[in-house]
Amino acid sequence: MKKVTIVGGAGNVGATCANVLAHDNLVNEIVVLDLNDNMAKGKALDMWQQAPIDEYSTRLVGGSSYELTANSDIVVITAGIPRKPGMSRDDLIGTNAKIVTEVTQNILKYSPNPIIIIVSNPLDVMTYAAFKAAGLDSSRVMGMAGILDTARYRAFLAEELGTSPRDIQAVLMGGHGDTMVPLPRYTTVAGIPVTELVAADKLDAIVKRTINGGAELTNLMGTSAWYAPGAAAAQMVSAIVRDEKRIFPCCTFLDGEYGIHDLCVGVPVVLGANGIEKIIELQLTEDEKALLNSSAAAVRAVVDVCKGLGYAQ
Ligand code: LAC
Repeated sequence: MKKVTIVGGAGNVGATCANVLAHDNLVNEIVVLDLNDNMAKGKALDMWQQAPIDEYSTRLVGGSSYELTANSDIVVITAGIPRKPGMSRDDLIGTNAKIVTEVTQNILKYSPNPIIIIVSNPLDVMTYAAFKAAGLDSSRVMGMAGILDTARYRAFLAEELGTSPRDIQAVLMGGHGDTMVPLPRYTTVAGIPVTELVAADKLDAIVKRTINGGAELTNLMGTSAWYAPGAAAAQMVSAIVRDEKRIFPCCTFLDGEYGIHDLCVGVPVVLGANGIEKIIELQLTEDEKALLNSSAAAVRAVVDVCKGLGYAQ
C-alpha cells in the first residue's frame, strides 16, 4: 500500500502532480489536501471519475483535514502563493515560509517518517525550512527544481536541434533562480556532447532562456507554470516508489559536499526508495565552482532573511 499526499493539491501545480501520478497507476491512494476544502474534494472526485476512462486504479480523495493524510509514504508540498509577473521567487519568502513550516509540522503529526518533496518557492529556501521543521534525516526532505529546469533546457535544445527531447541528457546545479548553473559540458544528445552540435552563442542563449524559463511563463500567463512543475514532482515520486535509483538534479541538504555547508541547493543525486540515496560530486572546473558558489551565496542570503522571520531555525 503506497499513499501519497499532495498539499496544495487543489492548486495548479498540486492538481497536475496528482493527475500525472494517478495516470502512472503506481500508488494506491492520493490525498489532495488543500485549505480550500471544496475545491480539494471536487478535484479529487473529478480525477477519480477520470479513472475508468484512463484505466488507472489509484484512489483519489480530497479535503482540508490533515487526518486524511495519516500514514502517507510521500508528501509533496506545493502550498504557498505563486509569483506574479515582475516578482522574483524570493519575494514570496514571508508568506511561504510560514505556510511550508506549518504544513510540515502538521504532516508529521499524522505521518511520522514520510519522504517530503518541496515544490513551493523560493524552492531552495523552502526545502531548508521544511528540513529544519521536520527534523527528519536529510535523505527524506528534498526539493523539486532541477528536473523542471533541465526539462526546460532540454526542450529548448530539442527545438534548436530538431530532435526528440528524450534524447537530451543534462545536469544543472545550484539554486532554482537567476543563479542556477546549467552545465553544457555535461549535456549530451544521445551520447554526443552538445558542444559538438550547437554553436557556443546559440548554447549561451539557450542557457539564458532556461535561467529565465519560469519568468517567461509567468509573463505569458500572469501566474507561474504548472504542467511541467507538476509532472516533475510526480517523476520524483515515481522514482522513489519504484526504487529506480534514477539520477536527477534535486535540491538537497549539503553538509560539506561541493564545499557547501548547512544549505539546501540543487545537485545531482540518486533517487530511490530511501529518498536521496547518494549525492554525486562532480569534478567542477574553477568557473563552474565559482558559479555554484555564487548561487549558494544567493540562496544563503534568502535563508538568512527566512531565519530573521523566525523560520528555518
Ligand atoms: C517555475 C516556478 C514554478 O520555475 O518556480 O515555473
